[in-house]
Amino acid sequence: MNKNNIKEKERKIKYIFNSIYKKYDLINFLLTLGFDRIWRNKVVNFLLEKKIKTILDVATGTGDLAIILAEKLTKSNIIGIDFSEKMIKEAKRKIKIKKLSKRIKIFKTNYKYFIKKKYFDVITISFGIRNFDNINYFLKIVKKNIKKNGYLIILEFFYPENNIIKFLYKFFYQKYIIFISKILSDNFYAYKYLISSINCFIKKSDLNNLLINNNFKKIKIINTNFGITSIFIYKSI
Ligand SMILES: C[S@@+](CC[C@H](N)C(=O)[O-])C[C@H]1O[C@@H](n2cnc3c(N)ncnc32)[C@H](O)[C@@H]1O
Repeated sequence: MNKNNIKEKERKIKYIFNSIYKKYDLINFLLTLGFDRIWRNKVVNFLLEKKIKTILDVATGTGDLAIILAEKLTKSNIIGIDFSEKMIKEAKRKIKIKKLSKRIKIFKTNYKYFIKKKYFDVITISFGIRNFDNINYFLKIVKKNIKKNGYLIILEFFYPENNIIKFLYKFFYQKYIIFISKILSDNFYAYKYLISSINCFIKKSDLNNLLINNNFKKIKIINTNFGITSIFIYKSI
């Protein structure tokens, strides 16, 4: 992708999230059939009992993961970054209600321009990475920000690899996504984008290879919901 195409793609993604921010949490709940909270808890549970002070949540959106992290890891401080002003406005509103504004700071920025040198014990990203044009570049930015032995945790949807699940996904789940989108969204394009971003996202094995090539060591991959959603837990070495 050349520079202009990348800028255009980012502009579209920002536009999509700026236009769906009000219903994002509801839609997310319906599309994940309410499982998203369980998946986020799995991320946090891995970090319990570990000495974690500083966390960066990339593509934080409306802040759900940042909030659960702050609630359960009470000795940690969290920075959430996202380039959609409307999504982070919603995140800030929720953080204020939960009285977590001292521990969660939110910044509007493209992740590409966010550097806090080797500062973070943990970097998380949930349902964000498949929006990025260059995952290798994202991992280089993570490397700049993460401490040695820090954890990178990626929660993401993947296109199913098993044939039966692929069939069910194509003929039922995708239709369900379209149905929900038609009912709830004024921006149908947003959900066409959602489906295509899952379908076009790289395979788990390719993501694993990129992580290894960027000096991350695999701790574990947790597959949930027949492997449609996975949590990649890696250590920066
Ligand atoms: C599907 S939402 C995920 C939000 C949240 N992490 C969650 O778990 O619900 C993807 C988010 O990625 C953000 N995003 C996409 N590309 C970005 C970029 N290059 N820099 C920063 N944020 C980005 C979008 O604005 C959006 O809020």
